[in-house]
Amino acid sequence: MATDKVTVRSFARLKGKRIAVLTAYDYFTAKFLDRAGVDSLLVGDSLNMVFYGEATTLSADMPLMLAHTRAVAKAATRALVIGDMPFLSYQTSERDAIHNAGLFLKEAGAQAVKMEGGMERVDTIRKTIEAGIPVMGHIGLVPQSIHRFGGYQVQGRDEQQAAYLKESAQALAEAGVFGMVLEAIPTELARQITELVPVPTIGIGAGPHCDGQVMVINNIAGLFDEFKPKFVRRYGDLATELERIARAFVDDVREGRFPGPDESYG
Ligand code: KIV
Repeated sequence: MATDKVTVRSFARLKGKRIAVLTAYDYFTAKFLDRAGVDSLLVGDSLNMVFYGEATTLSADMPLMLAHTRAVAKAATRALVIGDMPFLSYQTSERDAIHNAGLFLKEAGAQAVKMEGGMERVDTIRKTIEAGIPVMGHIGLVPQSIHRFGGYQVQGRDEQQAAYLKESAQALAEAGVFGMVLEAIPTELARQITELVPVPTIGIGAGPHCDGQVMVINNIAGLFDEFKPKFVRRYGDLATELERIARAFVDDVREGRFPGPDESYG
């Protein structure tokens, strides 16, 4: 079936239209999510936690992110593919940011990248966009700054933080981002930011008034059972299903039921 590939321009035009974004980290999962009609697949550095079992996203690096992005990009016939820039791939200098962001497009087949940060990141993001690389912003609870926050707490609860987030959102939009993730901020603040900026806001733990929602696929599929953030809705329990499949196989092997005649060469 011929489908129109979502581009950063068509994505930006979805403002106000309830955009569905999921993370994906591998070819096969990406293929099914693309088939299901998600607007964008984000190859998030959350893979460091839900795919590799690390405690934070901090040790994800460029080779890792490029390898996973390449696999996802091969599968995405329709969804916009966004590569997540890992910690220290863009904070060190504008030159590093442009070079590393470019690798996501040049070597991994992504159509855009995502960078965390507000006001302090605007110049880097502007320069990257000027180099021809579309950027999605990400403000609120930005996991690469976990040690600065001292934990995974909701951001923007006090006036000063809320003002910083609103100014950051406006500055990012002026710098030219085609969308921005709002992570773990109060519903009312997310609503205000969504009204303030001309580009889509994509919420995760930011309430129902954002232009779209993003979820980590392992969380909604019940494939990551170490903790469940309040904002996650589980649509399935793949962990239990996988365990059931593996147990059935183990039992069949131990009881001599596998392989049978149909699964053997005559
Ligand atoms: O790394 C990630 O998956 C993300 C999303 C949750 C927004 O940044």
